[in-house]
Amino acid sequence: MHESTAVTPISADGHSGHDGNDGAVRIRPLQWADFDDLVKNYYSFHDELESYPDIGLTIDEQKPSMEEEAIWFGALYADFLTKKAVVFVAETVGRVVGICEVRRGARRPVSHVGTLGIAVLKDYRRMGIGEKLMTHTISAARELFEVIVLDVFSVNAGASHLYSKLGFRSMGVLPMAVKRRGRYFDEERMYLLCRKPGYPDK
Ligand SMILES: CC(C)(COP(=O)(O)OP(=O)(O)OC[C@H]1O[C@@H](n2cnc3c(N)ncnc32)[C@H](O)[C@@H]1OP(=O)(O)O)[C@@H](O)C(=O)NCCC(=O)NCCS
Repeated sequence: MHESTAVTPISADGHSGHDGNDGAVRIRPLQWADFDDLVKNYYSFHDELESYPDIGLTIDEQKPSMEEEAIWFGALYADFLTKKAVVFVAETVGRVVGICEVRRGARRPVSHVGTLGIAVLKDYRRMGIGEKLMTHTISAARELFEVIVLDVFSVNAGASHLYSKLGFRSMGVLPMAVKRRGRYFDEERMYLLCRKPGYPDK
């Protein structure tokens, strides 16, 4: 299940660089010790919003406090331990650079449906990490869920391309689904039917 891939990270100024280790990125399940990196990553997505207002993440308007982050992480980790969520991270030596999760709906009649989220740190995008993360996560999620859904900003062409490549299909677009800083974003809902006996694949 775990896999390593050699990547050459691009530094913040856009040049090819090295990450200070052997450059290998490993996909592995979430660990309790990932908290600090995941908080740093979330804060960096928040900072990115200032220079990249179209970022396809539904980020809170205010940067969450460390207490709020701890509550978020505690709930995610509890779901992971109790098999209500599948969570993988991409790690370079000593640093988590991406996360992908599929999480169960809270109510019982929709507990067979998992919602997918993914984010890779800016300097590590376009190197195949997102695709590897998703492939691992979906493969494990097939054991727990019958349907996987996700929402993607219509402006987020890169993410849409990745999802279509991995078999997700469009259910349609909700206009004005997200309102951020006075701007509206349309959002596409996509789904993947997991292969279970008796389930139509198409
Ligand atoms: C979306 C995201 C997870 C993709 O991760 P990634 O590691 O950059 O993706 P990969 O390098 O594995 O690329 C996978 C495919 O998508 C394509 N792709 C990725 N980003 C792209 C972009 N910005 N524009 C065009 N194509 C893109 C790649 O070319 C590749 O397709 P190909 O194999 O046909 O060439 C990453 O860009 C990200 O975290 N973005 C910010 C957060 C976000 O938008 N999350 C998704 C919320 S719905």
